[in-house]
Amino acid sequence: MHNTVEICKDLYYVGGNDRRIALFESAFPVPRGVSYNSYLLLDEKTVLFDTVDVAVSELFFENVEHVLNGRKLDYLVVHHLEPDHSASFARLLEKYPGVTVVTCQKARMMLANFFGFRGENVIVVKEGDALSVGKRTLKFVSAPMVHWPEVLFTYIPEEGILFSADAFGTFGALAGGIFADEVNFERDFLDDARRYYFNIVGKYGVQVQNVLKKAAGLEIKLVCPLHGPVWRENFAWYLQKYDTWSKYQPEERGVAVFYSSVYGHTQNAAEILAAAIAQNGVTNLKMYDVSVTHVSELLAEAFRYSHVVFCSTTYNNGIFISMEHFLRDLGAHAYQNRKYAVVENGSWAPQAGGYMKSLIGEWKNMTEVGETVTLLSAVNEETLEKLKALGKEIADDIKMKKE
Ligand code: FEO
Repeated sequence: MHNTVEICKDLYYVGGNDRRIALFESAFPVPRGVSYNSYLLLDEKTVLFDTVDVAVSELFFENVEHVLNGRKLDYLVVHHLEPDHSASFARLLEKYPGVTVVTCQKARMMLANFFGFRGENVIVVKEGDALSVGKRTLKFVSAPMVHWPEVLFTYIPEEGILFSADAFGTFGALAGGIFADEVNFERDFLDDARRYYFNIVGKYGVQVQNVLKKAAGLEIKLVCPLHGPVWRENFAWYLQKYDTWSKYQPEERGVAVFYSSVYGHTQNAAEILAAAIAQNGVTNLKMYDVSVTHVSELLAEAFRYSHVVFCSTTYNNGIFISMEHFLRDLGAHAYQNRKYAVVENGSWAPQAGGYMKSLIGEWKNMTEVGETVTLLSAVNEETLEKLKALGKEIADDIKMKKE
């Protein structure tokens, strides 16, 4: 049965939720599911903004049919070709053969590659183009590499509505409330929003900054992303998060201690270090065993804090497997602009610290606090004192007034 929501006059939510999916993009656990948003506008022309993943396509087609209520579908605006939004494209065209596809040139090429679509019923738009659909105008904003090259936003100036593709999206299915002001977003969605941003869009901070500059020139009253809640209140708060994230600035002053430990000795060192940081007055402190917590969560937490500590045992004359995976993932997402410290362990030839610092050395604007603490198998009296001293240095640095 259809399940639609009127978002504002003439605009309807026609997407759906998937809570059975284990891994989004075969990579990211989504224990709270994910929503695939699609929107249908009824003006003098009818306009569908994107389709949905196959997982929710049955409901989607029921929703579209219900909202159209016998009207024909005039336009399909394709903002993004990733299949979580385009997978129902071919079936939509079968069902509504008269629809005109509105998209950019790059997306048109991708439609041919994904679906063999070479139809003539296409309006190719570019930055600044406008299309009147009756009382409203669709103005198109190019958002390349946020996070694919073809990405397009649509802005409706008459009502200040922005269709923002993946930008401002989040993991987490919608639980009844469709608007961010109907849910406790900070409590229930922010961690997933941060994890979504950094894992999926985070590599492209410069491009996000470019699009935020364009958005700053628009009067925005309603933001309709392709995942997660719709924003109609307090969007400036979320926009500020995006600004911070895309500038690679820490969101919070505090520290995340990440460790990998085979038999517990490196964990013991990490715990001693964390205790020293806490005893020196830092309350914003997190600890993660990188072999246990999913790397997508580790990545988001590393981006969240001003300070990070990496503690790894030496393994195969290098970094422990899960820590190396994590560090390489950070590098791949342009991690930068943080303070860090390193602890290494090795029973006969400690090497992990040097290798970790060599990877960190490839990242921009990383500043080490203190010196690497090297353990030989287990913490002893000497390394205990070094860990406590490093903990104090880290705490003092965190508490230092931010320049
Ligand atoms: Fe939600 Fe980039 O697809």
